[in-house]
Amino acid sequence: MAKTVIAGNWKMHGLKADLDVIGAVAAGVSDCPESIEVLLCLPATLVAAGAELASGSKLEIGGQSCHQAGKGAHTGDISAEMLADAGATHVIVGHSERRADHGESDIQAAAQAGAAIAAGLTPIICVGETLEERDSGQALDVVTKQVAGSVPDAAATTPVIVAYEPVWAIGTGRTPTPEQIAEVHAAIRVALAERFPATGSLIPLLYGGSMKPGNAAEILAVDDVNGGLIGGASLKAEDFLAIYAAAANQTS
Ligand code: 13P
Repeated sequence: MAKTVIAGNWKMHGLKADLDVIGAVAAGVSDCPESIEVLLCLPATLVAAGAELASGSKLEIGGQSCHQAGKGAHTGDISAEMLADAGATHVIVGHSERRADHGESDIQAAAQAGAAIAAGLTPIICVGETLEERDSGQALDVVTKQVAGSVPDAAATTPVIVAYEPVWAIGTGRTPTPEQIAEVHAAIRVALAERFPATGSLIPLLYGGSMKPGNAAEILAVDDVNGGLIGGASLKAEDFLAIYAAAANQTS
């Protein structure tokens, strides 16, 4: 069985004044069972302070992107080793906002995931179709191709997480139906199990896109959904903890 993972993605939100949210989340997950992992992926400027606040708690801290190279002349970029050094345990790669804003490709996402693994981080590899791709019936093809291209071969032996985030559901308040989510997650699971016979069934598959306290229980109950990657609703401790509670309810 894959672990359940409830991960927040703060995106380009969060100042020092918002660090109290991290303390509140850390306190709120003190009863977190072994079967659930809870983390917040913070802007790079807050990773070190966030990791310090979360230290000794069940809350883990992640970054939101890393460069594929270990180090070098890459002004403005951050390496996986830097994130690990600051106390991160995870890093998001291949998020659709990175793909759209910075032209990142499947090949880059796979290389970044590889760099993350080399630095001892668990990559959260994001995939998802646009509305046009869904409307033209290509969702499954697009997502399985992204999975094939963005998940590195190292996933055969090292933990990774995959997040299905339909681009049209991110920040829009729209979510796919449980049937639509189940269809895509099943296709991802089959693809991973075929490619990685030993580990494919253990890779947590997260759903992301307008997940909130009001829909979390329904989404988390879908087959092959092993957790969530939560944007807007992770900025408020109360909302994020309500989603965590929905997951804890289902695994207890
Ligand atoms: P929202 O939850 O704000 O839709 O964002 C989802 C997301 O992109 C998480 O990575």
